Amino acid sequence: MRSSKLCEIVLEATCAVILISCSAAKLPDDIKPCVAGDDKCIIENINTVLAKKYEGDESFGLSKLEPFKMDDIIISQDSTRPLAIHLALRNPLGYGVKDLTARKVKGFGKNPDGRHEIIIAAPALTLLSDYKIDGKVLILPIQGEGKSNITLVQPVIRIRIDATSRNENGNTFMDIKEFRIECKVKRMIMQFDNLFNGDKALGDNINSFLNENWQEIYAELKVPFYDAIANAMNVAAKQVFKTIPYNEIFQI
Ligand SMILES: *[C@@H]1O[C@H](CO)[C@@H](O)[C@H](O)[C@H]1NC(C)=O
Repeated sequence: MRSSKLCEIVLEATCAVILISCSAAKLPDDIKPCVAGDDKCIIENINTVLAKKYEGDESFGLSKLEPFKMDDIIISQDSTRPLAIHLALRNPLGYGVKDLTARKVKGFGKNPDGRHEIIIAAPALTLLSDYKIDGKVLILPIQGEGKSNITLVQPVIRIRIDATSRNENGNTFMDIKEFRIECKVKRMIMQFDNLFNGDKALGDNINSFLNENWQEIYAELKVPFYDAIANAMNVAAKQVFKTIPYNEIFQI
């Protein structure tokens, strides 16, 4: 249950949104460009895009955010781990993206050199998928195939970027050195329908067990997960900031 995968929804969506919100060159009419370092403006733009554009907007290359379509998620944890499972989440759809709000932005000043931070939160994020699971969760066997609902309650996501500045042909670029994320949740709620070929008593028991032990499950998955997303995001963000000059993303 790489349920923290839900945080990835936020990251993918946020990245798209931040760039769009701030990319002066491509802004839709109802969004004004931000001056570098104007954290209020940056927060406002991110929130405007999330609140008003979650249906997507082709005129500026934003795909639909709600529900948020993701690639299949396949997790294999080896048998020595407390969570020794093979889990496939197919056709995953993320809900709750439209209710995300940027709370705090630090950095993104005139000079991209240094640390930048974005804190974004939502009341809940839900991932609905067609799942298939097999293995053991904290010693209990688990097996099944059907619909799943994994929900993070009150997730707060902190995105931290360490960067340096580079000048090329009169343009300033942000070179990302390190990209880190952290996702805190109040609770995680899991529901796997049709476990053990639809054996209701057994299925209900396992679902209760998972939910009682959500903290262990979450903890077990978040470290490898953070690394994985941080790497993926690092690549994506690097690509973007490498190709779009910083001075076109923000007014300097
Ligand atoms: C998914 O689970 C959450 C938390 O229990 C619940 O609020 C939500 O209604 C569920 N969504 C669906 C489609 O079942």
